[in-house]
Amino acid sequence: MKKIRVLGIETSCDETSVSVVEKSKNGDVKILSNIIKSQLDVHRDFGGVVPELAARAHSEIIDKIASLAIRKSKIKLNELDAVAATAGPGLLGGLIVGTVFAKTLASALNIPFIAINHLEGHALSVQLENKIDFPYLLLLVSGGHTEFTIIKKFKQYKRIGTTLDDALGEAFDKSARLLNLGYPGGPQIEKCAKRGNPNKYSFPLPLINEKNCHVSFSGLKSSIAQTVQNKKITSKFKCDVSASFQKTIGEILKIKTVRALDEMRSNVKSKSKVNIVVAGGVAANNFIRSELKNIEANEDCKFYFPSLKLCTDNGAMIAYAGIERFERGLFSKLNFKPKPRWPLDNKALFMKGKR
Ligand code: KG4
Ligand code: ZN
Repeated sequence: MKKIRVLGIETSCDETSVSVVEKSKNGDVKILSNIIKSQLDVHRDFGGVVPELAARAHSEIIDKIASLAIRKSKIKLNELDAVAATAGPGLLGGLIVGTVFAKTLASALNIPFIAINHLEGHALSVQLENKIDFPYLLLLVSGGHTEFTIIKKFKQYKRIGTTLDDALGEAFDKSARLLNLGYPGGPQIEKCAKRGNPNKYSFPLPLINEKNCHVSFSGLKSSIAQTVQNKKITSKFKCDVSASFQKTIGEILKIKTVRALDEMRSNVKSKSKVNIVVAGGVAANNFIRSELKNIEANEDCKFYFPSLKLCTDNGAMIAYAGIERFERGLFSKLNFKPKPRWPLDNKALFMKGKR
């Protein structure tokens, strides 16, 4: 078979990204371009993503980002085999912008359009840098999702744990807001934590004694709100709270990941080494990376962290998921409707608020 080249479009939240990914005959995968334009400046003053503004910003720039991605990839438009776009889950306005653009381009070029589940993009993104065998365990920690999912093989995903309330990135962002640290909060908390005392404050470890892989972060945020109340928010205070918060998150993730490993082993009925892929924006956090890696000392497992550009939202992971679908002839109709809610494991129960 000849080389496969897919253009991938990501517009589900606050990054407009377009990428061209190529798969060679021998199975090698290469990112030919991966242009990412973040909308941080659009949303900063509001302390979070404003859906209307996000959609408008995507629509203003998507054609330029796509042209740039094509130019950088050094291939011609007629060398593309398919156009893939995130069709959910995410903010509807942005999803419409990305999928309409993708459908139009695919029709003009007379090639297939492929609707991609954003979470499948994160789940498979590791394959852009490392060839790892199925099954593996995915810990997805982003601004919108937090879940443990067994990636049994392509299209076979079993979620074994999720958040009952806030996503982890959301907890970072909300806590940072309480500390006047700016937006997005994750990187600010990580920076501040380096100068703080992680043992200064003790925060709760929700659901830690429950024998499952679910997590909950809203109580932690309330506890930070109480700590902040009536306090003068000095630089030292911000750093100490950030360090204590991050330490708590590290503890929770370590305990729950070990539990997820056990659950995965019994689910796939194997005792062999488990590969664990950590993806999503929070996986960019170096403290959390090293805390998780400590698990390798006592458990037969190996962690994989995508490089920073592939942890956060990007078109390359969408293009790669598009290649996997293209190879199997899994194309989408042009009337495919974006789905703001679209779980990766459609048998998994909706758990938000289930406490
Ligand atoms: O995966 P992502 O780019 O977008 C979603 O799909 O949500 O994740 C964004 C989230 C934000 O909540 C942001 O604060 C968090 O990832 N994040 C971090 C770090 N960098 C980004 N959280 C903790 N530490 C970081 N270094
Ligand atoms: Zn994401």
